[in-house]
Amino acid sequence: MENHQNAIPEELPPDKVPRHVAIIMDGNGRWARARGLPRRAGHEAGTENLRRIIRACVEFGVKVLTIYAFSTENWGRPQWEIRALMHILENVIDRELDELHQEGVQLRHLGELDRLPGNLQRKVRQAIEMTKDNDRLILNVAFNYGGRDEIVRAIRHIVEDGIPPEDIDEALVSSYLYTAGLPDPDLIIRTSGELRISNFLIWQGAYSEHYYTPTLWPDFDREEFRKALVHYIQRERRFGKLEPQTSG
Ligand code: IPE
Ligand code: IPE
Ligand code: MG
Repeated sequence: MENHQNAIPEELPPDKVPRHVAIIMDGNGRWARARGLPRRAGHEAGTENLRRIIRACVEFGVKVLTIYAFSTENWGRPQWEIRALMHILENVIDRELDELHQEGVQLRHLGELDRLPGNLQRKVRQAIEMTKDNDRLILNVAFNYGGRDEIVRAIRHIVEDGIPPEDIDEALVSSYLYTAGLPDPDLIIRTSGELRISNFLIWQGAYSEHYYTPTLWPDFDREEFRKALVHYIQRERRFGKLEPQTSG
């Protein structure tokens, strides 16, 4: 049987590749359980996988990658798991920062940094400072991020800045979010088969395309990522209008 997707050449058409891809990296725990391993091993495998996907973004010409690594709701997990997730972020910065910098990756953080351990905050700030002039790929790490929390914070700042009500419009609200200045995500991917957004980019994702796969995050490799991009490329985005549009 002829597979429609085979019609897409290995080289994805550069003008059709999504500029901004956001990923809910879910399923690490189930990946570990299926192997009789502790959950932490699943998170580590998930982190290894991230390298592959960062490389694939550079290869396919994605300009912004946002990854959901720790949600405001994840504070409700057991202390040992929270600690493990903090350690993993710290280790990633220690191990990968130089290479990411060399590859031209600019690191940014989405979320409230203040609630993280002091040394982790320092490392995140240093990594942001070190990579701020890189422009090959912007990597937004959503860590202690929640979409509602982000909007509440934006409202507070708008009020603090004394912005008159008539000046408040969508562009102004966007400029108060963690993603200020970045394009909205074109494509949101969620692994592990869950069909929900879990408080991720609820403002920015108003018109994003969605791609859900049962594949668990540690197994979501370059080829699976490419498949998601192919699905996206084959869709028509209409933004409420009658004809396909290139952007909202
Ligand atoms: C996603 O994997 C990573 C984080 C939420 C930090 P999970 O830890 O949610 O894995 P499952 O959903 O239990 O399999
Ligand atoms: C979403 O995954 C958060 C991250 C991937 C960081 P969860 O596993 O925490 O989400 P729910 O609980 O299934 O909604
Ligand atoms: Mg999960």
